[in-house]
Amino acid sequence: MDVGRFIDSQVSEIRELVGKGKAINALSGGVDSSAVTVLGHRAVGAQLETVFLDDGLMREQEPESVAAVFKPLGIQVKIVDVKDRFFRALKGIEDPEEKRKAFRDTFYKCLGEAVKASGATFLLQGTIKADIIETQKGVKTQHNILEQIGIDPQAGFGFKVIEPLKELFKPDVRRVAAALGLPESVSQRMPFPGPGLATRCLGEVTPERVAIVRRAVRIVEEETAGIKAFQCFAALLKDRGTGLKTDGCRQFGHMIAVRCVESENAMIAEPVHLPWEVLRKIERRITAEIPEVSRVLYELTPKPPATIEYI
Ligand code: XMP
Repeated sequence: MDVGRFIDSQVSEIRELVGKGKAINALSGGVDSSAVTVLGHRAVGAQLETVFLDDGLMREQEPESVAAVFKPLGIQVKIVDVKDRFFRALKGIEDPEEKRKAFRDTFYKCLGEAVKASGATFLLQGTIKADIIETQKGVKTQHNILEQIGIDPQAGFGFKVIEPLKELFKPDVRRVAAALGLPESVSQRMPFPGPGLATRCLGEVTPERVAIVRRAVRIVEEETAGIKAFQCFAALLKDRGTGLKTDGCRQFGHMIAVRCVESENAMIAEPVHLPWEVLRKIERRITAEIPEVSRVLYELTPKPPATIEYI
């Protein structure tokens, strides 16, 4: 792919589609939505409003660090606090597809309101090819696929969707992001699913359980920073296991699974052979820094038969 030509053609296409209108996009800080944000701003400048919906399911410090990446590029990010809405919608839900549906419905309700408030009639979205293929194959409904699952965004939410990256797989998105001037911390960033830590929290998604998995994800990301992998993260299992606290008391604590995979495009994946010392350090840090956790497991399943995320 000729990256320069791709950028030029998408910029003119967005410009033509939006015309004198207003557009909006939801930035999550991942490489896909970040690339779309810069493409959109190149195309229509201040006619594009960029919002960050703070759903409470992101990694630590995410809203602040995302805004800090885009400020030097002259792009203002509007942070909207919608945490309560998401936790209310996810309350009591354990089934993976129901979780995805609750997330998606709440996401588009919140975004719909942001669109209304902004007066935009176009939504720029960072859908990539793998998202579409997985949804079409019925593996799972990625939160950002609307038309493929029979939702008409124009009728349902009042906006037209523009998806400049929908023909690209991740490696090409990374090349586009780098060519758009995004820092390596973004262009080479590990994928993080749209429904965020809800995909890494088996059982009910509550603020308390998300806080546990968020801390574990940070530890895994820190300890695997030097490892060549497509994705490394932690998931909170639904079940509990018996453990011993330092005072010798029995603790029926949480269990964390660590997952680290190599993949080209997320369609297939292999577990990474992590060095034993890295695994032990992850275990030590998780059980020491998150006292509610009594067991740490390492996941060995490739994709297929497993998917990369846990829901
Ligand atoms: P799975 O779990 O389907 O994940 O093997 C494949 C890749 O997609 C990411 N993922 C998502 N990305 N919305 C997204 O934008 C989603 O709903 C979603 N679900 C999974 C996952 O992290 C992996 O990189």
